[in-house]
Amino acid sequence: MTDYSLLNAQLKALIEDEPDALANAANFVALLYNALDDINWLGIYVLRGDELVLGPFQGQTACVHIPLGNGVCGTAAATLETQRVPDVHAFPGHIVCDAASRSEIVVPLIFGEKLVGVLDIDSPSLDRFSEADQDGVELLCRTYCELAGRDGGFI
Ligand code: SME
Repeated sequence: MTDYSLLNAQLKALIEDEPDALANAANFVALLYNALDDINWLGIYVLRGDELVLGPFQGQTACVHIPLGNGVCGTAAATLETQRVPDVHAFPGHIVCDAASRSEIVVPLIFGEKLVGVLDIDSPSLDRFSEADQDGVELLCRTYCELAGRDGGFI
């Protein structure tokens, strides 16, 4: 089981004294990728106009542009609701990036009350993400959004 309160403290320590938004995004992604087990991809898609664009990530190369409303990421961005998908093959319109992915969670990133992007995590196992994982990852995303862009912008 992942200790999300410890991870949250580590995330705060990592980014609270650093004003650079890009460095903080890169470190957020690296911290989580190495802390969670049984995942094959983790990264940020950034909202640019009416599409999501690939940002800092760890894992295989991935699709760069995702229109709002498309796939799991675009659905999370359009609805502003976390999408926790136990079986990606059962999700209508799922966009395949790494063929190994079987389950996925996507959390909207809200910065200054506006959607700025999403955090996407893929696992090679079916039903990898529990409700506790969702609560934990949402907590980390809130901390990240509170602290990550203090120099004015997001990424
Ligand atoms: N599966 C995502 C696309 C991004 S990759 O998984 C990295 C989706 O359906 O939006």
